[in-house]
Amino acid sequence: MKVLVIGSGGREHALAWKLAESEKVSYVYAAPGNGGTAREAKCSNVPFADNPEGWEQLISFAKKEEIDFTVVGPEAPLAEGIADVFRNAGLAIIGADKKSAELESSKVFSKTFMKKYGVRTAVSESFSDYEKAASYAGHYFASSLKPLVIKADGLAAGKGVVIAADYNEANNALVSFMKDSTLGEAGKTVVLEEFLEGKEVSVLAAVDVKDNKGSIVPFISARDHKRRFDGGEGPNTGGMGAIAPVPDYSEKAQADFITSILQPTLEGILQEQMDYRGFIFFGLMVHEDACSLLEYNVRLGDPETQAVLPLMDFDFADLCVSILEGRLQSFDFSWKEGAVCAPVAVAGGYPGTYRKGDVISIDEKVLQDTDVKLFAAGAVLNNDDQLVTSGGRVLALSAYGTNAEEAWNKAYQAMDAVQFEGMGYRKDIGKE
Ligand code: AMP
Ligand code: GLY
Repeated sequence: MKVLVIGSGGREHALAWKLAESEKVSYVYAAPGNGGTAREAKCSNVPFADNPEGWEQLISFAKKEEIDFTVVGPEAPLAEGIADVFRNAGLAIIGADKKSAELESSKVFSKTFMKKYGVRTAVSESFSDYEKAASYAGHYFASSLKPLVIKADGLAAGKGVVIAADYNEANNALVSFMKDSTLGEAGKTVVLEEFLEGKEVSVLAAVDVKDNKGSIVPFISARDHKRRFDGGEGPNTGGMGAIAPVPDYSEKAQADFITSILQPTLEGILQEQMDYRGFIFFGLMVHEDACSLLEYNVRLGDPETQAVLPLMDFDFADLCVSILEGRLQSFDFSWKEGAVCAPVAVAGGYPGTYRKGDVISIDEKVLQDTDVKLFAAGAVLNNDDQLVTSGGRVLALSAYGTNAEEAWNKAYQAMDAVQFEGMGYRKDIGKE
């Protein structure tokens, strides 16, 4: 089989690597890919953009090369309808259709869906009128000591959620989103939500819903670490590292997730007649073994994918085919024992303005000795075939260990073998 992977981040490098590992896959193309996919065995990049301008070219490429199926990494093309466009062109694609993608691209849509189908989530209200939102915030703080969570309705690349400790902070965020339009259209409508206590868990899952039939099967649990600095300090980022599985995600909590979140979500996807053949991400807050849903993403998480895929003891290409053929329910999932720790190295200045174009030096022998996989994210190849930084999150080092401690040790041994000007990382991935 030949496969096309859409996207250019660390998640897409992991997808391309895992697909290329399959004996049934003869070649993987990444569009546009990055320096990691360019170097991966059985894999190369094609220079077509993953936005609507590139779709025509991607479709002709997929037809000419007789690509068996395409896997979409990021949310933006899904929200813009890439799955619909590919399917209309007669091409097999793994990804939520435009309607299902609203579960991620609109917080109002997803909260309405959660309430309609009884998915457990925080109490919330949505507003398009600033005065009404500010008044709701005023009443909230008059009767609650907890922070208020303010969420921009639209996609905002991780900048759309503010946790306000008091009315002033809440009001500042509302003014910035709704009046000053700092997020453009994405912040014109907001969801105001009660703050939930607990620990966050990411559950990535496969979905094969079509024609009112299908299922959702969850993968092993994972945890992202969103804050820039150790101990959960500093600004939010796209993710500073992930672990899988999550040691504090109890069996009781997992059972609660199935009944309180996964099953009603599946019911909703079926009832709404979505064509959802792809992946879904449940962002959970877990407190005393009870799960609440913070958000859906209609894709795999980044960097969670870099921690979860190395634990898969099955052929990922087979999984994709079973999704396309609606056979997920009988797919034979098996997971490696052990754990993965995948810290991310970021560029100097990230998540603010950051450096670019720095050469990344890697002691490949250390990576081989520790059996650690480097997944490139914001890193491309220069004319001399060297990996250079091109984005904020530069790379992840995914270390497998027979237990979490061993994985952590290997990951940070490998981190010492990677260097670039201004490089930063967290030392407490899996230990926060
Ligand atoms: P979201 O995009 O909805 O996942 O929000 C981004 C981040 O904000 C989450 O990963 C949480 O860390 C935090 N967050 C969102 N909603 C809540 C909530 N209701 N209570 C506490 N933290 C939240
Ligand atoms: N790691 C969270 C996300 O992919 O949105």
